[in-house]
Amino acid sequence: MKVVVIQGPNLNMLGIREQNIYGPMKLEDIHSQMEGYAKQNGIEVEFFQSNLEGEIVDRIQECIDDAEGIIINPAAYSHTSIAIRDAISAVRIPIIEVHISNIYAREEFRHTSLVAPVCTGQISGFGPFSYHLAMIAISQILSEVRAMKESQNKQPAE
Ligand code: DQA
Repeated sequence: MKVVVIQGPNLNMLGIREQNIYGPMKLEDIHSQMEGYAKQNGIEVEFFQSNLEGEIVDRIQECIDDAEGIIINPAAYSHTSIAIRDAISAVRIPIIEVHISNIYAREEFRHTSLVAPVCTGQISGFGPFSYHLAMIAISQILSEVRAMKESQNKQPAE
């Protein structure tokens, strides 16, 4: 099973930006931890980061033929982007929204996520560990999807 991890604007600055909020860990380190979990659990994982809304929309769209699940931190675009929300609605595969910080404990403009209602679920506020929780969630969901498909295939045709 293949999972694509999509990282939005300024997440390439992790480890440098607002360490009091996001901590000292760099994006590459978060990704190598995710890679470790993926290897142990037979998941193929691919990482993508962009500061550009349209590139994020393009990468989500490509997942239609390319991936079984998505983990996405749309960062600031979570609160503003109808385009990213519409792309998520279009792909119809399990998608976990991730935030490092607890967006509900921060400024009011961060309390609304436009993408949350079209994602399978949201994980917010566990620091970089949010990504690990998202890997556990997506692998569980994809195993359930696979088991369901297999049992449907075994049903005798009417
Ligand atoms: C963030 C929260 C957003 O509000 C913010 O714009 C980010 C990071 C998080 O992971 O906590 O860039 O998505």
